[in-house]
Amino acid sequence: MKTECEKLSNYPENLRVRLQKNRFVCEVEVLAETDSTNRIAKELAVSGAPEGTLVVAQKQSNGRGRLGRSFFSPEGGIYMSMVLRPVIAAEKALLITTCGAVAVARAIEKLGGGEAGIKWVNDIFINGKKVCGILAEAGFSGTSECPDYVVLGIGINVKKQSVPEELKDIVGCLEDIPQCRILNEELIAAVWEEFAELYQNLSTAVYMEEYKRRSILLGREVTVLAAGGNYRAVVTDIDKDGHLVIERDGKESFLSSGEVSVRLREKRGE
Ligand code: BTN
Repeated sequence: MKTECEKLSNYPENLRVRLQKNRFVCEVEVLAETDSTNRIAKELAVSGAPEGTLVVAQKQSNGRGRLGRSFFSPEGGIYMSMVLRPVIAAEKALLITTCGAVAVARAIEKLGGGEAGIKWVNDIFINGKKVCGILAEAGFSGTSECPDYVVLGIGINVKKQSVPEELKDIVGCLEDIPQCRILNEELIAAVWEEFAELYQNLSTAVYMEEYKRRSILLGREVTVLAAGGNYRAVVTDIDKDGHLVIERDGKESFLSSGEVSVRLREKRGE
């Protein structure tokens, strides 16, 4: 029987073998360490890499998060970025993030990781803690309304000991989940298997119903953190393009992910 170390040392090769069966992934670059897989995938996209090109790293020194934040990426987690060339209008680009979120949630559940919820727009929560963040970055060329490429970056926290003390109440990891023994390469392959299926329906976004079902914000009171100041609102819906629909002082508005962050307020009595 193989030891844990032997399994890890075979990780890149195991991953390649698993991804060979995937109809969507056409090229895989596996790195022990990099600054950011999104940065590398963007470079590849600009130099003409086809849709389905995947970059995976076992550690990042400068992992990027949404709204210019950094994404803590210690050894042993899953950090990966996919080059996509979707034929969609720029204002629909949020659908790529929602598609990725549903794929990750499905893959974790299928492999026994428990019920996965989605916090709009890009976070996967298990047992009340964030285990995964997603960052889609688009590049444009010429005057086309369509992005030239979109890089979909997914970061999944795996190792328990790597979550810093000050983040332990909000950041979770797969190793926290009782009975969860998912191999990284198994989960990576499962995510892109699910994604391949959902991505076929990107323009109709039929998976938005599932996204809404998994939402941990729908019907809840939230604090919206916006550049002009924070305010309270109630989440009433997520529309077909992935915008968060909120009600504030009797007025409805639609939030797009580039502008705001949303923090869940505790339920009264919790
Ligand atoms: C967030 O939580 O705000 C999004 C985090 C996205 C992190 C992933 S890790 C792989 C890819 N490379 C990056 O630099 N960022 C994304």
